[in-house]
Amino acid sequence: MIVNKVTDIIGNTPLLQINMKNNDWKVYLKLEKFNPGGSMKDRMALNMIEQAEKDGRLKPGGTIIESSSGNTAIGLAIVSAIKDYRFIAVVDHHASKEKIDMIKAYGGEIVVVGDDYKANEVAVIEREKTAKRMSEEMENAFFPNQADNFDNRSAYTDTLAKELLDELSTVDAFYAAIGTGGSACGTALGLKKRGSKATINVIEPVGSILFGGEGKPYFQSGTGNPINAPIPKIIDYKIIDKNFYAKDDEAFNTCRYFAKKYGLLIGGSAGGVLFKALEDINSKTGSGTAVILLCDGGEKYLNNIFNDEWMKSNNLINHDIDKIIENWI
Ligand SMILES: Cc1ncc(COP(=O)(O)O)c(C=O)c1O
Repeated sequence: MIVNKVTDIIGNTPLLQINMKNNDWKVYLKLEKFNPGGSMKDRMALNMIEQAEKDGRLKPGGTIIESSSGNTAIGLAIVSAIKDYRFIAVVDHHASKEKIDMIKAYGGEIVVVGDDYKANEVAVIEREKTAKRMSEEMENAFFPNQADNFDNRSAYTDTLAKELLDELSTVDAFYAAIGTGGSACGTALGLKKRGSKATINVIEPVGSILFGGEGKPYFQSGTGNPINAPIPKIIDYKIIDKNFYAKDDEAFNTCRYFAKKYGLLIGGSAGGVLFKALEDINSKTGSGTAVILLCDGGEKYLNNIFNDEWMKSNNLINHDIDKIIENWI
């Protein structure tokens, strides 16, 4: 494939097939780490910028300021580099060092908020307030506000959903993480639009409050919504059939298992989605086609999820997860 710019490589990511032991379901892992910025968020970063250019919210030479756990910011930094915008990412300590280093490498600038938060707490409200205030104070600035921006959600409707149906013909069950809801709901809308009857299943960390429940801190980064943070406007609850909760140890030990047994390095939210999806698919009878959307790669988490000392010091090592997964696949 010959392309003219890096954004032409966004999308058309591969599907890795895995087999279940206890039924005839076919399972496909949609590997979004193969986007140029290493996550599915490249898709929405490009769309949010292109739509803002079209309707004049973003003008040549402008500055883009966004609150992000890191992946959206990496996507925005890449698109900004190509299109010559200044880019400022407002992050908190849930953004891993690797993500921050990548944003900087693409020429993005970093503002860190929420210094007084604990390691497993997310400062979403502070991030969003800061990005909004900065964009209001600065001339020719644009705050995409991914949580409430429908161009985030629509970025997946005619790309990811289409890719799945072009490749697989049918999808009976779709599993994805949920943070802003852009990827899960956007893909779900695209599947429905194309006549698919797939069940839509979303996974958030234990402690995230998107479906009610008790809010408490969690380490899975980029996914879920912490206590007190407003519910993103782009979540379409009507199209979601079922929601699940992944514990940090389930998520991270799944990542470590897949790296060692399948040579597949995935990120923490992807580990949580994978564990809960496989558990659910294992409980099914008969046959069907399931797609599990894996948001990003493990390269961005080498200093935590794949670091034995960090895992041990946070009491997250759990070898039972390996045995549980081995009973399923
Ligand atoms: C690692 C990771 N997982 C999951 C999500 C959630 O995706 P969405 O915002 O599309 O719901 C994000 C979003 O930033 C993310 O970075």
